[in-house]
This record gives sequence, C-alpha cells and structure tokens, in this order.
Amino acid sequence: MQRKVTSARRLSGIISVPGDKSISHRAVMIGALAEGTTEIEGFLASADCLHTCQCLRQLGVSIEREDDGSRNDDGCGKDKLIIKGQGLWGLQEPAEILDAGNSGTTMRLLTGILAGQSFTSSITGDASLCRRPMERVAVPLQLMGARITGTQLSRHQGGIYAPLIISGGNLQPISYKLPIASAQVKSALLLAGLYTPGWTEILEPVVTRNHTELMLEAFGAQLEREGQTVRIKGQLPLKARKVTIPGDLSSAAFLLVAGLIVPDSRIVIKGVGLNPTRSGIIEVLQAMGAKLRITDQVEIAGELRGTIEVESSSLHGLSLGGEIIPRLIDELPILAVASLFACGVTEIRDAQELKVKESNRLQAICAGLTRLGGQVEELDDGLLIRGGVPLQGAVCQSFGDHRIAMALAIVALGAKGETVIEDAEVVEVSFPGFWSLLDQLRSGAE
Ligand code: S3P
Repeated sequence: MQRKVTSARRLSGIISVPGDKSISHRAVMIGALAEGTTEIEGFLASADCLHTCQCLRQLGVSIEREDDGSRNDDGCGKDKLIIKGQGLWGLQEPAEILDAGNSGTTMRLLTGILAGQSFTSSITGDASLCRRPMERVAVPLQLMGARITGTQLSRHQGGIYAPLIISGGNLQPISYKLPIASAQVKSALLLAGLYTPGWTEILEPVVTRNHTELMLEAFGAQLEREGQTVRIKGQLPLKARKVTIPGDLSSAAFLLVAGLIVPDSRIVIKGVGLNPTRSGIIEVLQAMGAKLRITDQVEIAGELRGTIEVESSSLHGLSLGGEIIPRLIDELPILAVASLFACGVTEIRDAQELKVKESNRLQAICAGLTRLGGQVEELDDGLLIRGGVPLQGAVCQSFGDHRIAMALAIVALGAKGETVIEDAEVVEVSFPGFWSLLDQLRSGAE
C-alpha cells in the first residue's frame, strides 16, 4: 500500500499513543510463565505483539483479548488481555513451527524461554527477521547447555540465522559479559535463567532498557541489580498480577518531532512511558532546543509514565554517541528527521546496531531523506546530517521497516508538495492507528 503525505500547516491535539511494544511482549511472556491469571491493560495489539501471543498459544497458553468498551483519548479501544499462566514448567511442545513474523523481540526472548524447556521447538520469521543475527542469543544459551542450530548464510561466515531449532532443558547458570549492548539478549538470558538451579549473572557494556528486570521483579522473581550487572535466581515460581502498560515513547517520538517541526503546533501526549533507560530522545530533543515539557509523572510497577507537551521550536544540531545510544536506539530514524529541520550539523555515532534492525536503518534513512533533498551522509557507525536545507516531496521506500515508514511520513509534513511512501502498511508492526492519529492532529480535533 502506498501512502501520500502532504506538508502540514499546523498540528494540534491532546492524544495518547498505543501501548509500549517492549513491555507488551514481556507482559505476555512473563504472564504465560507465572502461576495464576494475569490481566494486561493497555496491551499493544500490533502485528509484532500478536505474533508473540500466537507463539505462546502454540505452546499451550490460553490468551484472550477483551475490549472492555472504554476508549483512549484518540478513540481507540483499550485492549485488555487475559492470560492463564502455565507456571514455569507448564508449556507444551508445539505441533508446528513458531512464527515470530517481523519481530526480533519475539524471536530472541522466546528463544531464551524455549532453551529452558525439555522439548524441541523451531522458530522462524519473515524475510527481514531471517536475515538478522541470532548468534548473539544462541551462543550464551549454548553455554548454558541448550542445543540451538540455525541456518548459516554464506555471506556471513559464522553467523546463526533463523529458522532456529532449540532443544532445551537442564540449563546451568552462567556469568556472561554481553559483547554488544542488547536488551533483547539480556532479556533472553534472564528468561533462560529462570530455569537454572542458581544465579545467572549478566554484565552489560552499556545500560539498556530494563523492562524485563522490572517486570520479573513485579511478578516476584529474585533479582539483584547493581550498575551494569543483573543477577536472577532460577527455579522460583512467578506470581500472576495485573499489568498496566504505558504508551510507547518510541511511537510518541514520531508525533513529538512532528509537533516540533511543523509551525504553530502544540501536541500533548498523555500516559507515555518515561523509563530512564528509554528516554534518551527527550534529553536529546531538549538539548537541541525543543520546547518540551513533562508533567503528571507517576510510577507503576517500576515503570515511570507521564504527559509530554511539545510546541514548534527552533532546533539546532549537535553531536551524539556513546552511552546514550542504546537509550534512544529506535528513535534514531526520527531524530535524523528532526536534525534536517535544525540549524547546523548533527552527527550521530556509535549506532552501527542500526544496520541489523528491521532494515539497515542507516542506509534506509539516508536513502529516504536524500530523495527529499536532505543532506545526509551515511557513516560507518552513524549519520551526518546538515539541517536547514529546503525539502521537496518525492516517492520513497519504507524498506519494509515500520520506523522508516513513519519517519518518512513526518519529514513529509515539513517538505513542499507531496511525498509518496511505498509499503506504508508496515506501520502496523508497532503503531496501529498512526495514520488516523496524524489526520486527527492535522484537523486539530482534540
Ligand atoms: C528491544 C530492544 C532493542 C530495540 C528493539 C526492542 C526490546 O533491540 O531496538 O526495538 O524490546 O528488548 P536490541 O536488543 O537488539 O538492541
């Protein structure tokens, strides 16, 4: 599906965004392993998270979706999930191969859980996911005692790719230093650690999102956290509970940048997740000169949330890299868009992980923004962006990547004429309702 986006004169509204994707995946998985019934409010019913539900159903977990009739500010139904937890040892051998679709989080976190099971299972995904590196989870899980085999792609010697076959059981605790900063790998090892007799220890090179740690603690797991080290004690039961998922800051970021770059705009987004391990984008936008205010902060089960208000702002470029990168890794495509509207140059470094996301995001964002006349240079580990150059609408590709499609939709609001985005339906992977929310902001309806 193609989507046409023209420049916007003004955006305004008080809205909320769909539930956090990372937390939604974790709530379903941890709820499935807990004892008792877990109720999840604000679940993100996007393609990625529905793949996680489907995989768990194939493993014998009952998951029901309920729309209780209540509505968010944007008019969308609030999705509630009811999960009948099977306990740590209650999953069943699946009859069919599991399918993670486009979702790296589904595949990597589930691989951690499957490594703990005494049966054999296989998991695959779409063409993009089957090209993403899986040795980063397979290697430490093999050290714990799981047998994991995958496909080897001839152009990447030594790599392991999906489909994966996982024969688990009898895991032993390990102490493992992650070679790359990855919350997905850390989470897979924490989930596998639930099945070991003793303490599994993980050391991160840089702090990454800690949703798994917070949720496991909320479900009663024994966890110790100290700086960049986390330890989990295995073979203890998890207890079901109610989970309330905040809005996804990674989704909100697209609309925040829209509000900053379109003149005379004011957007208020309520109930957004503000976990400090995720909120690097807020700090960077503020450092670029964004008029961005946070109010009504509350913490539920360790997860901070609040209201974010933005107004059109004069932005300036800056340089970023190092420890902040994992705290805004998914926001780099939209940050590149903001940089095009900032005066001066923005340099993004230490972001080589973007090459192995749903697309090669360094290449994809550089290709898209250049099509519109933006001055963007792809670096080996980042991007160099010169702001303030006039942009002209053009036909551009999403490369099958939800965040690239949405970044292009936002840049189009600030470009002259019309932009056509190919394969725009891919936004459903993380942000159902994105297009109607954008229309709502254009019409100024609250
Ligand atoms: C995620 C972790 C990050 C992020 C992804 C979601 C998670 O991936 O990019 O969108 O939910 O744990 P990596 O662990 O590969 O950095």
